[in-house]
Amino acid sequence: MPDQLTKLAYQTIQQGKGLFGLAHKEVSTRLMGLLVPDAAPRTVPVEPEMLERLRSGMAALTELDWQEAERGLYPASLLFDAPWLDWAARYPLVWLDMPSTWMRRQDRNVRDLPRDVEPQAYPDYYLQNFHHQTDGYLSDHSAALYDLQVEILFNGTADPMRRRVLAPLLRGLGSFAGRPASAIRVLDVATGTGRTLRQIRGALPKAQLVGLDLSSAYLRQANRWLSQLPGELPQLVQGNAEAMPFIDGGFEAITCVFLFHELPSEARQNVLDQCFRLLVPGGTLVLADSVQLADSPQFEVAMENFRRVFHEPYYPDYIRDDIDQRLVSAGFEAVTASSHFMTRVWSARKPR
Ligand SMILES: C[S@@+](CC[C@H](N)C(=O)[O-])C[C@H]1O[C@@H](n2cnc3c(N)ncnc32)[C@H](O)[C@@H]1O
Repeated sequence: MPDQLTKLAYQTIQQGKGLFGLAHKEVSTRLMGLLVPDAAPRTVPVEPEMLERLRSGMAALTELDWQEAERGLYPASLLFDAPWLDWAARYPLVWLDMPSTWMRRQDRNVRDLPRDVEPQAYPDYYLQNFHHQTDGYLSDHSAALYDLQVEILFNGTADPMRRRVLAPLLRGLGSFAGRPASAIRVLDVATGTGRTLRQIRGALPKAQLVGLDLSSAYLRQANRWLSQLPGELPQLVQGNAEAMPFIDGGFEAITCVFLFHELPSEARQNVLDQCFRLLVPGGTLVLADSVQLADSPQFEVAMENFRRVFHEPYYPDYIRDDIDQRLVSAGFEAVTASSHFMTRVWSARKPR
């Protein structure tokens, strides 16, 4: 049973990560303004009230994360799970990579991808430098830096936000309680470097887990991270979430984290239709992505600044999209949603 000392350690680490993320962003933004002023985004000033709301949202997220571990939804060790040595070794690379990011910003160049990429292998919307990231999602270099960059971007809250899919996932799988744990199949769509699968493994030690992503470079990184878990043999598949290479009804549950804001609206619906097809009747879909204007109007300025700072071409449309309605259109029922700091989590069931 986790104790108060462990809780204090977790809170302290989260505060440390938060301060580190803020300091990194402050220094790098000032440096960009100094060295490449044309690259500096024009952000909307953030009022002290919103900063306070962000701070308390972050504290509430940490508290809920702790409580769910304490309730036994997942082991408390997951709260401390991070490749620290690896991140320390890669941190200088984040700085070395920054000037090329600034140049892309300055030149408004969002199609700067590796030469060996075969464009016909990907949907057009994917062939961009999301977040002005070097090589987009299409190189081992990009995959090596991604987790650390996300960690800094979200001030250390990326995994606590990903873990918000675990409670609805476990609740949804309750309807298959009669089946052996090893017969439960869970697919993580757009698994990236596998951080969500790592969280799910903590909550479902025996389930069959599969990850799908369009980027083979990100899947290679996922393979490296996940293989570190004792006994894990990662099942990772390269493919488009709009046309997934799996049989109908092959999964009891599907998760999908931080994909939808990077898809055009039609692709969002296609992915939901696919998830519906892949679930067994009674199966559960759990989605997590950015909060939206309708549920979190108090964070409108933060959403606006996110769009201005990072190349996120579909974000303005996403934050106005009616995901509940899309889930219903795909055929889902029992749609519920809740917001945790900057993440909205939807869960929905395929009718029996
Ligand atoms: C913002 S990252 C999120 C990754 C991961 N779920 C996480 O929590 O870190 C978006 C991921 O979606 C993948 N992706 C984007 N469009 C896709 C598509 N149509 N099919 C499959 N994967 C896609 C990208 O390759 C990338 O790994």
